[in-house]
Parts: sequence; C-alpha cells; structure tokens
Amino acid sequence: MTFPVRRLRRLRRTPAFRRLVAEADLRVDDLVAPLFVKQGIDAPEPVASMPGVAQHTVASLCAEVRTLRDLGVPGVILFGIPEHKDARGSGADAVDGIVQQALRALRDEVGDGMVLMADDCLDEFTDHGHCGLLTPAGEVDNDATLERYGSIAVAQADAGADVIAPSGMMDGQVGAIRAALDRAGHEHVAVLAYAAKYASALYGPFRDAAECAPQFGDRKSYQMDPANAREADAEVALDLGEGADMIMVKPALAYLDVIARVRAATDFPVAAYHVSGEYAMIKAAAANGWIDGPAVALEHLLAIKRAGADFILTYLAREVAESMHG
Ligand code: PBG
Repeated sequence: MTFPVRRLRRLRRTPAFRRLVAEADLRVDDLVAPLFVKQGIDAPEPVASMPGVAQHTVASLCAEVRTLRDLGVPGVILFGIPEHKDARGSGADAVDGIVQQALRALRDEVGDGMVLMADDCLDEFTDHGHCGLLTPAGEVDNDATLERYGSIAVAQADAGADVIAPSGMMDGQVGAIRAALDRAGHEHVAVLAYAAKYASALYGPFRDAAECAPQFGDRKSYQMDPANAREADAEVALDLGEGADMIMVKPALAYLDVIARVRAATDFPVAAYHVSGEYAMIKAAAANGWIDGPAVALEHLLAIKRAGADFILTYLAREVAESMHG
C-alpha cells in the first residue's frame, strides 16, 4: 500500500497563495526611524560606516522627518550630539540642548502626526563616553545616574517628546524616569524601556554616528551578557513593574530567541532595535555585490516581526517605506 505524498507545496504555488497563508507581515506602520542631530554644524554630515545615514542639522532633520511622515512612518527616535561634552553630560538635559531644540522644531513641524521618541542616556553627552556618572574610582554610579536620567526625561518631555526611551541599562531607570515625569506633570508621556539590551559588538557604527565610544573600558558592567536569555525575563518583569509602557530587545537578529520569549511573557508592546552593525553589514555586502541588499533587508525585518516584535527601530525605515510605496 502506498500513500500520496503530503503536498505542502500546493499552498506555495503562486504569489496570491503565499500572501493568503502568510503568518507574519511587515508594514510601514511597524517602523521607527532612528535619527541623529548634531549641534554646531550647518550642513548634514554623512556617517561613513552607515551609508544613507547622516548627522543632521535641526533643519535637515525636519526635512527628513517630513519625508518619513509623508511615507507613513509612524515614529522617529532622536539621538543628539552636543557641541560640548563634560563629565555630567550637561547638554543632555539643558533647556536649549540639541535634542530639546530638535524636539521643539519637530513638534512644530508634524504636530501629533508622528510619535516623537527621545533616547534618554548620557554617553553622547559625557566626555568619558559612559552611559552614567562615574565614581572617583571610574565606575558607573548607578543611583547617581538615575537622577540624571529623570532630569533628562523631564527636559525631553517639556520639549515635546511623546516617548522617553532609556538605553543606559541602569537598575531602576524606568521607575526613576516614571516618577520624575509624573512629578513634573507629564503623566501622558510614555516610557519605552530598553529592557534587554545586550553588550553587543554590533553598536560600532552607531558610536561613530553619535560620537559616543567609551574613552576607557566597555559597557559590560551595565549592558547584558550575550550568553543570557532567562535574565531578559527578569529585566522585562522589573521594567514592567516600574511602569514601562513598552519593552525593547536590542540588537535584533542575534537575539530572535529573546524577542520570542519576551513576546510570550508580555502582552505589552514589544519593540526590537535592528542596530547600526546589522544595517552596516547589509550595506557593505550589498555594495560588494555579494547580496541583494533590499531583499535581505526585507527578510531580516520580517524575521524580527515573525519572532514577535510589534515594531522595529531601524535605519532601513525610509528605504523600506519607499519600496512599499512602489
Ligand atoms: C547608548 C546607545 C547605543 C545605541 C543606542 N543607544 C550605543 C551603545 O550602547 O553603545 C546603539 C544603537 C545602534 O547600534 O544602532 N546611548
């Protein structure tokens, strides 16, 4: 007795069938564009290790964000590069700090037409390049840093941010920021917690773009060890307990298992950050003619959605949105 072969290929036969039975999808609505804005320049400066990405002036930032809005991209996240750096990262919460200037200009430009997110961290603003204040011994001082993060969050919210995204991986940062925002009357401003942010070698190009490489040591005493997945559950539980509205996993592709387990653990929105190194690898291989860059880009972003992310922070946002508009 022979049995007919079970034919899974029937449903893969035409594009219409494949669309009909697709489990995951990637939409323009799933994209958030990370953008850099630099103080004291009068024209945008390209970032060599991230082809297609620039350090913006406030004016060129506004133009870029208008384009993204017209393409239907729902959100952006801002990173600032100040003219002067010091040990406390004073530029981060200054009323006229570069991120605050940019937020005010963008709020004027797009109204409520886009979600404006601000990265809340110190490394772009400190002369030592670490994400927190240092003790005399040169260690990152967790609790002293929390006060700075709270103050930065309030300055960003005052300037019009909808979402504060703390990326420094200090313990208690979400609770400190939530308390500071509420005290300042910003109950409606949301917190996107970089909950599971790993000490990754994939941030290299970003550190060029944001001019924030640590001047000594590394970030392994605050960012997560790539060996750990269960620890991500603990980070997520703590951040949600402290009031996080949304949870992020970063980087994305090497941590799809973490995205999947965070997805299983919470019904709150889950974000993934497709980081600078992930972007640079696609661009470099495509420039050599070794891969089909746009196809790999879509495959990577779809995989991140399939793993369970609701939305993706990606430097590919503009080009992917353009490709989806034909
Ligand atoms: C720290 C921060 C980093 C990134 C986002 N926020 C760099 C770091 O942790 O060293 C990296 C993002 C990317 O690589 O695209 N403020």
